[in-house]
Amino acid sequence: MNAVTIIGSVNLDTTLRVNEMPKPGETLHAVEHFTSGGGKGANQAVAAKRLGATTNFIGAIGNDKEGTVMMELLNQEEVNTDAVAVIEGESTGQAFIVVDSHGENSIMIYSGANNEFTPAHVNAYKETIKASDFLIAQFESDMDSTIEAFKIARDCGVKTILNPAPALENVPQELLAVTDMIIPNETETEIITGIKVTDEETMKEAAKALHELGIEAVIITVGSKGAFFDNGVKSGIVPAFKVEAVDTTAAGDTFIGALSSVLKADFSNLEEAILFGNQASSLTVQRFGAQPSIPYLNELNK
Ligand code: RIB
Ligand code: NA
Repeated sequence: MNAVTIIGSVNLDTTLRVNEMPKPGETLHAVEHFTSGGGKGANQAVAAKRLGATTNFIGAIGNDKEGTVMMELLNQEEVNTDAVAVIEGESTGQAFIVVDSHGENSIMIYSGANNEFTPAHVNAYKETIKASDFLIAQFESDMDSTIEAFKIARDCGVKTILNPAPALENVPQELLAVTDMIIPNETETEIITGIKVTDEETMKEAAKALHELGIEAVIITVGSKGAFFDNGVKSGIVPAFKVEAVDTTAAGDTFIGALSSVLKADFSNLEEAILFGNQASSLTVQRFGAQPSIPYLNELNK
């Protein structure tokens, strides 16, 4: 069983379902609303746990009722939350999500406590990182803390997986230099490499640019088309499962969590792990919400 540590965000998600996305200046009636556990970091932790890994989460909440609810959700899943800091005077992260009738979403986030934990906090959990097979991060929480965590992982020979989402201009080179695997989407790939990915050829070019930064394995997620991979020896596309999407929220997070729960530390079963990730996320897109839509292991391979 893999041990996976995830550093990142935890958000209370508030979702409104609409028929079409609002245009600027327009007021629309939603057909439904609900709240659920979210945040890219917490979602990936829940996915890794539900799909078979032991999971630690490093992050932060505010001293508020939203934070208490988010902690309860993670604890219920048996994600280890010892490394979740409570930040006084800042609120728990929140995401406001609009989902249209095609399953597409628009998300606005208030990071709050997610941006308030520190490298010193991360340092206190060095042993947790050290005991893991993988350390995973995204871009919804304090960057200096992420860099610190990745450096600790590198020092102890723990493989680092970076999901550079949501898209960020000027990704620190210092972070890329200690990244073993990167999992961007097409937009994030273009921002980091300057290469617009439109087909397998351009994906290979982008992967080459990322390999040149010292990143061993590259997976570019291409939505309903699946995922492109390149480990420097072999490349290709693992197609997505064809399903009817109602809400794509947390599809990428499920893919990453699922992948990390079955991946070998030497990345030797990369294609197999991607296929498992694709299968898991094909279930996530058929259900509403972030954490409530992430599948359990017994729902796969049926
Ligand atoms: O990746 C999906 C997540 O992004 C949502 O749960 C929301 O919290 C935003 O952070
Ligand atoms: Na979903």
